[in-house]
Amino acid sequence: MTIYINKDETVFHLEMKDSSYIFRILENGELQHLYFGKRIHVKENYNQLMAYEKRGFEVSFSEEFEDIQQSMIQNEYSSYGKGDFRHPAFQVQGMNGSRITTLKYQGFELKKGKNRLNSLPSTFDDIGQCAETLTIILTDSILDLTVRLNYTIFPKYNVLVRNTEFLNNSNNKLTLLKAMSLQLDLPDSQYDFIQFSGAWLRERQLYRTSLRPGIQAIDSLRYSSSPQQNPFFMLSRRETTEHSGEVYGFNFIYSGNFQNMIEVDHFDTARVTVGINPVEFRFLLNPAESFVTPEAIVTYSDQGMNQMSQQLSDFYRHHLVNPNFSQASRPIILNSWETFYFDLSTEKILDLAKAAKDLGIELFVLDDGWFGHRKDDKSSLGDWVTDRSRLPEGIGFLADAIHKIGLQFGLWFEPEMISIDSDLYKNHADWTIHLLDREKSVGRNQYVLDLTRQEVVDYLFDSISKIIIETNLDYIKWDMNRHITDIYSIELDSEQQMEFGHRYILGLYQLLDRLITKFPSVLFESCSSGGGRFDLGLMYYAPQAWTSDDTDPIERLKIQHGTSYGYSPSMMTAHVSISPNEQSGRQTSLDTRTNVAYFSSFGYELDVTRLSVEEKEQVREQIQFYKKYRSLFQYGDFYRINSPFSCDSASWQVVSKNKCQSILLYALLNSKLNPGYTRVYFSGLDKDKCYSVSGFDEFFYGDELMNAGIKVSLSNLALCVPEYLTKLFVIEEVVCKLCK
Ligand code: GLA
Repeated sequence: MTIYINKDETVFHLEMKDSSYIFRILENGELQHLYFGKRIHVKENYNQLMAYEKRGFEVSFSEEFEDIQQSMIQNEYSSYGKGDFRHPAFQVQGMNGSRITTLKYQGFELKKGKNRLNSLPSTFDDIGQCAETLTIILTDSILDLTVRLNYTIFPKYNVLVRNTEFLNNSNNKLTLLKAMSLQLDLPDSQYDFIQFSGAWLRERQLYRTSLRPGIQAIDSLRYSSSPQQNPFFMLSRRETTEHSGEVYGFNFIYSGNFQNMIEVDHFDTARVTVGINPVEFRFLLNPAESFVTPEAIVTYSDQGMNQMSQQLSDFYRHHLVNPNFSQASRPIILNSWETFYFDLSTEKILDLAKAAKDLGIELFVLDDGWFGHRKDDKSSLGDWVTDRSRLPEGIGFLADAIHKIGLQFGLWFEPEMISIDSDLYKNHADWTIHLLDREKSVGRNQYVLDLTRQEVVDYLFDSISKIIIETNLDYIKWDMNRHITDIYSIELDSEQQMEFGHRYILGLYQLLDRLITKFPSVLFESCSSGGGRFDLGLMYYAPQAWTSDDTDPIERLKIQHGTSYGYSPSMMTAHVSISPNEQSGRQTSLDTRTNVAYFSSFGYELDVTRLSVEEKEQVREQIQFYKKYRSLFQYGDFYRINSPFSCDSASWQVVSKNKCQSILLYALLNSKLNPGYTRVYFSGLDKDKCYSVSGFDEFFYGDELMNAGIKVSLSNLALCVPEYLTKLFVIEEVVCKLCK
């Protein structure tokens, strides 16, 4: 598996474990996409795939290349204005105002491995043994513009990573109007578009619709990837299920405005583009300057969506997430937010921490309210110093005391924000994103700092560093609770104001990069009013993210199910909270809350000092259980079996890589009186291995569990628990002679 180039260096075949990606150079120097799908043999030429026809009333490239009509060709990275009327992958404006470009092939570079990008989060192959990178060099001779298309394959995971670099070689200014990271022209449109859209408290709900002529897109203009639309999406064949069929999964390694679009044209082809949202984007390229787009990834599976998600999970673990944490056991957290909100005192914090330690919890996180004079959400953002009125001994003392109890210590920050009622605002009101001649829009009583300015990034780096050093901190929850408005930076020229969005994200990434480099043992968790910035850009620095402010386990079944398509369980954090739930008012058992939260990086958001003796004992056992199976929950192969979006039940399973251990969750969402039998089917086991299943005396071969399933009677249970029932099945391999 590698990148093959034919003898006359016109056909490029990127061969992965189960898939092939092929393109070639056309006679006019442009690129023609030929194929991306199930692996096919390497050949010198693919004449029938390379063929193109001329059609009436389409426009030819030129008189010289009269037979080439861009609209009849699948393209690799298309321009606009020479006969392809679909949305282009990029647009560059020259000095004369024209946006016409014709990129012609100049050559290629091929190398083993994959370098990290300089100022953006990116995939990597530090050892240089897994990946191979091909760069195609194209130029527009009139603009004197070079475009480098980078393709990296990670063959084992069927993952292709793409990004683009634009270099201005001319003596004039050029303006980039659009610069997508990935384009994929598919030859037909018989696909379903599966997207994960939502809102605060109901993030990443699954929507599946068939492609239709015209444009369908997900995007963000919130200067954040947002809870409204997640950048991850899939295109699957109509008949594709979790277990079979073709599916492509796309994602974008970026935390700001994005636009992921599919355009179905009049010939029924589907063009996919993934990249920075061109609305609110424009980038000036002075002579010799370049622009590098963030990376986009696409993976292919012909074995259904579970395999696609597993490929991505394994890929992220080895080639995206900070290696200091990507394989590490994530600690069991107790987060103070729903216990205290802003009502803090040293005594209360230490009591909670002691009770947490007693139950087996490993990391205590002091959430909002410890800094400045923040007694509610109206003040102090930006003042990252201890609030001595409530924590008189200081945060260093508190951290020390918590470490002495035997717990790790973590703190909440919302670094990108500023409150008007803060010392920072008194001294640096101008650091707030605003326009001098207009009133600022406000969200959650707060404003956003201008991270395009180096002095702002430096201030945040210094003040957060001080606290990390003072507390010997183990963990940071990095929150972001409002979206950006009043876009303007006093430091940018008027012709550069549309660079703001990207420059803001670069400032954020610089800050995170400096912090994780200086403090490599601090675990970062990202958050944005819950799961509002759940994206691969942040995941590069912060290996886990708060999945949602909604901790109701029944709601969480949907949220975690939706999230699991594009992200792995270790990336999601889920906490057991109080019942009735503070967000939904729904009442659920401690078992149900715990069973759902297990399938993640697990924790509590609960006043554990107030649990009864019996509840404490139950929690202790639940924590021991999680510790025993932690690596299975966090890093096992995750299977979705029943979907809460389409069934009366939800069911998930994790299976160890060696297929010796597995746990299945069955959650009944709508119980009926006097129901029939329910069969629970397992996935991913070894058909010839013999297994025990908790609650059953007999042993089972894997094929029986997967094909015949287990018959569960819910009738009695449904009568006792009229609402929701969850049940865990623990599956362990047993030695075969035990089989009866
Ligand atoms: C956001 C987060 C919560 C909590 C609060 C604190 O809403 O999602 O988990 O940290 O902020 O203000």
